[in-house]
Parts: sequence; C-alpha cells; structure tokens
Amino acid sequence: MKIVANNNEVNFDAHTLLISKTDLKGKITYVNRDFMKAVNIKEKDLIGQPHNINRHPDMPRIIFKMLWQYLQNGQEIHAYVKNITSDGSFYWVFANITPSYFNSKIIGYHSARRKPSKEALEIVKPLYKKLLEAEKHGGMDASESLMQTLLNEKEMEYEEFILSF
Ligand SMILES: Cc1cc2nc3c(=O)[nH]c(=O)nc-3n(C[C@H](O)[C@H](O)[C@H](O)COP(=O)(O)O)c2cc1C
Repeated sequence: MKIVANNNEVNFDAHTLLISKTDLKGKITYVNRDFMKAVNIKEKDLIGQPHNINRHPDMPRIIFKMLWQYLQNGQEIHAYVKNITSDGSFYWVFANITPSYFNSKIIGYHSARRKPSKEALEIVKPLYKKLLEAEKHGGMDASESLMQTLLNEKEMEYEEFILSF
C-alpha cells in the first residue's frame, strides 16, 4: 500500500531514542517501543520488512547511497532523516547508524535516532531540498556532485560536516 505524505508532524521528546536493527540487506530485525510509536506500525508488521517502509519522498536518494557506502565499509554514519508514518505524517530524526559486529564480522546494522535541534534542521531542510531538486533533473549523479561541491567548499568530509552543527 502506498502511503500519501501529508504535513502533520509527529512529535517526540528530546530524551527519546528510536531504535531499530536490520540484517545485512536492510530488513528490520528489531524495533524498540518508541520507534513503533513514532512510525505507528505494530512490531509484527515491521519485523522482516525492508527499512524503506518508513522512507519519506522528501528524502534525497544520495543520503541513503552514502549511508550504505559507509556501512558496507564497516563505518558508522550520522544522518538527518525525514521519515514517514503509517498515516502519512512525518518526523525528523538525527540518526547514528552503525554496523553490528559479532566475532569481528558485520552481522547487521543498527540505528539510534533522536530529535534533531531546530538549528540543525534550518541547515538540513534547504540542503535536502536542493539535493532532491538536483535528483529530479539530473539523477543521483547531480545530487552527488552538488554534495561534493559543498564539502569541497567547506574542506570537510561528510561526517565532519554533519557533526559540525
Ligand atoms: C539500520 C538501518 C536503519 C535505517 N533506517 C531508515 C529509516 O529510518 N528511514 C529510511 O527511510 N531509511 C532507513 N534506512 C535505509 C533503508 O534501508 C533504505 O536504504 C532507504 O529507505 C532508501 O530506500 P530505497 O532505496 O528503496 O528508496 C536504514 C538502513 C539501515 C541499515
């Protein structure tokens, strides 16, 4: 079923951590109560589903491309993510996504998300708008080169940039 996005924002407090884990392919293997509450989907309807189940159409694809590149390199990544809920509402998170290791091998991934600051969203929202616009016209090559230009200007790697505000 395709969820239609609307402008209702779901609120949660600054202490809440929304947690989920996935297998190596990004299928959900665990969710905490606060995650289920935010996305408004029951545990049984989340476990086993691909994590794009709560992907919002306003998210630029380049962010997920970088996310998977970092994870598959064995590195953690931080990202601001706009997610959709079962009824089309949205919520923003600041996510820390990391590989889960067992016996020195990556066995899956997990993400811990918290409420982002207003100041950070003032930077991220216009940036994502530009990236999304670039993707509409020139695909992911366009958004990737836009992102790279920004990072070059700042003389920063992505992680350094995203943790700088
Ligand atoms: C641990 C983990 C957590 C993730 N959490 C989210 C999430 O909350 N929202 C989201 O849209 N994608 C999340 N993703 C990324 C999705 O797997 C997927 O790459 C993304 O939704 C884009 O999907 P698409 O390429 O099918 O459009 C997560 C991935 C991992 C490994």
